[in-house]
Amino acid sequence: MNATVDTRTEIEWVSQNNKLVSYADAKISVMAPGLTFAALVFEGYRAYWSDDAQDLYIFRLDDHMRRLAFSMNLLELDDPPSIDTFTRDILETLKANDFKEDTYIRLQVYVDEWGSMLATGPVGSTVICRPRPRVSDFDTGKRFIVSSWRRNAENASPPRIKASANYLNSRLAGLEAKRQGAGGAILLNEDGTVSEGPGGCLFVLRDGVFMTPDVTSGILESVTRRTILDIAGPLDIPVAERALGRTELYLADEAFYCGTGQEIMPIIAFDGRQVGEGVPGPMTRRLQTTFDDIVRGRSDAYRNWLTPVYHG
Ligand SMILES: Cc1ncc(COP(=O)(O)O)c(C=O)c1O
Repeated sequence: MNATVDTRTEIEWVSQNNKLVSYADAKISVMAPGLTFAALVFEGYRAYWSDDAQDLYIFRLDDHMRRLAFSMNLLELDDPPSIDTFTRDILETLKANDFKEDTYIRLQVYVDEWGSMLATGPVGSTVICRPRPRVSDFDTGKRFIVSSWRRNAENASPPRIKASANYLNSRLAGLEAKRQGAGGAILLNEDGTVSEGPGGCLFVLRDGVFMTPDVTSGILESVTRRTILDIAGPLDIPVAERALGRTELYLADEAFYCGTGQEIMPIIAFDGRQVGEGVPGPMTRRLQTTFDDIVRGRSDAYRNWLTPVYHG
């Protein structure tokens, strides 16, 4: 049994079609296009527990919602619920479960009932929240490989939207890394430049500049990646968004993987080649510390990125 299955038993309430139901009662049709043809888009958010405030803070909720709206738009769903309704669903579900620890929120929107590949409704939605502590490799970092799979292309299955269909590509790369005993994978795009990993974006440090593949490199427009770019300036850490060659991974002095689930995860090797000293680098550490202060409400400057759940 893995950790994901263990935490499931702790979930009492989920929201389905904008109403609270018990986890056991949340159902979709076995012939739903959301299942049979992956007509499903989703968002993953994190809510952070603050001991000081005795509150849970959802991180950059509005930015995730903007991406959800874009994903739903591209899927051409019939009249989906509004962003305000989804926001209410998330707050209700967190409160119903009375979570007082770091929590991951998955909101998914899909075509339900028996339907064809081109069905655009009826639209169903679910909000599932579960405890999710910080990953253990946050401190030690992970060894990555460059996958032999290519990132799905913008003009085939656009990585820019958070569609479950895109995660076949992610799964193939992730399984390849697992088979090789690595902690993660990086995919190259059709052009042969670096895109991202199965569930996160990438930054590498060269000559004192943290570089990340630009948004036309076949990546999800990650909220965490945006956050790093936003906070780097005030920290006097130079950053650049540009196409990144594979060999630049091997030349990196520091590197990290980032996303809502992984937060800022140091990468200590690519394809068995050590990154820098082979341990998480000092600039990565600085970003991790600043990020943690922000998400737990210890930084006044970025307070507007937090949505309080219990004392809002
Ligand atoms: C493919 C992919 N890229 C990047 C990310 C990081 O995006 P975000 O920072 O918005 O969570 C994720 C995870 O959520 C992802 O699944």
